[in-house]
Amino acid sequence: MQVDLKNVDWKTLPFGYTDTDYNVRCYYRNGQWGEIEVSSDTNINIHMAASCLHYGQEGFEGLKAYTGKDGKVRLFRVEENARRMQNTANRVLMAVPPVELFAEMARKVVKLNKRFVPPYGFGATLYIRPLLIGLSPEVGVKPADEYLLIMFVVPVGPYFKAGFKPVDMMISRNFDRAAPQGTGTVKVGGNYAASLLSLKEAKEMGYSSTIYLDAKEKKYIDECGPANFFGIKGNTYVTPLSESILPSITNKSLQQLAEHLGYTVEKRPVPFEELAEFSETAECGTAAVITPIKKIVDPVANKTFTYGDGVNPGPVCTKLYETYTAIQFGEMEDPFGWTEVVDL
Ligand code: PLP
Ligand code: COI
Repeated sequence: MQVDLKNVDWKTLPFGYTDTDYNVRCYYRNGQWGEIEVSSDTNINIHMAASCLHYGQEGFEGLKAYTGKDGKVRLFRVEENARRMQNTANRVLMAVPPVELFAEMARKVVKLNKRFVPPYGFGATLYIRPLLIGLSPEVGVKPADEYLLIMFVVPVGPYFKAGFKPVDMMISRNFDRAAPQGTGTVKVGGNYAASLLSLKEAKEMGYSSTIYLDAKEKKYIDECGPANFFGIKGNTYVTPLSESILPSITNKSLQQLAEHLGYTVEKRPVPFEELAEFSETAECGTAAVITPIKKIVDPVANKTFTYGDGVNPGPVCTKLYETYTAIQFGEMEDPFGWTEVVDL
């Protein structure tokens, strides 16, 4: 059945699942990737002993397509997501999808669902969710022989309901998300399962999300639940260097953009106490874009750090957000070659 778009309000779209017309799939069998298949079935039929279900042999990605001011639809840094999925696949011993296969599937799933790409001007985007899973039935702990790479799309609004508005965050003291040399640097579902309880705790206490400290010493800022962290100090963009955080493509892009705009960039361990020295702090990611932070509370150490006037985003976050989203929505020239127009 065709999804009815008549009643969709692009302006108030949540960041959540809705059905669209098609998904694309590619199986890895007998040591090779097959053809890209198009499906309108939202279910996948897999073996009850599939390695993804029991031993978490799976990984996912998240990227977006944007309708520009000129009406063209652009993908943002799709090859970066492809390479990160390759790192994920290598870390948990899955078949590694070629970058070109990943990019082709992303273009295809956007094209097939073009009526779901939100029009320009509403701040909404088409979120693309690639998922790689181990299919073969296994009972012993070992990697599967067969894999499925699937991509579906959903039109989305901002991850945090208010959009580009400062949020309150809580330091996660009771739970870690990932360990050094564990799987924190790749995008496996287990990292998110590990974050659910601390997220629940934070939400119940009125915070929008959590900030994790490094699991080994609990001295340094790691990252936020679904996004990286950065702070602004004078003319400097400071972001954590850590063995347990996901290398965010948004963060990497913002570092390049910040340098381009004349800021200094420091990527280094960020001691917890340094939270007191930033003029602005924010989380950044595909879903979160730039979400400024107005308050960080550590309920265990009983410490609160506040930023700005408590209502508006700070000037550096605003400058970065405006320039970054102007590139994504084709409002200004893309000096970095980050965007690719999709041939619809
Ligand atoms: N950190 C975590 C744990 C994430 O889930 C994400 C989202 O993908 C990010 C950071 C941000 O990464 P990116 O900017 O590539 O979306
Ligand atoms: C993203 O930003 O793409 C994410 O994956 C974050 C989240 C929704 C898990």
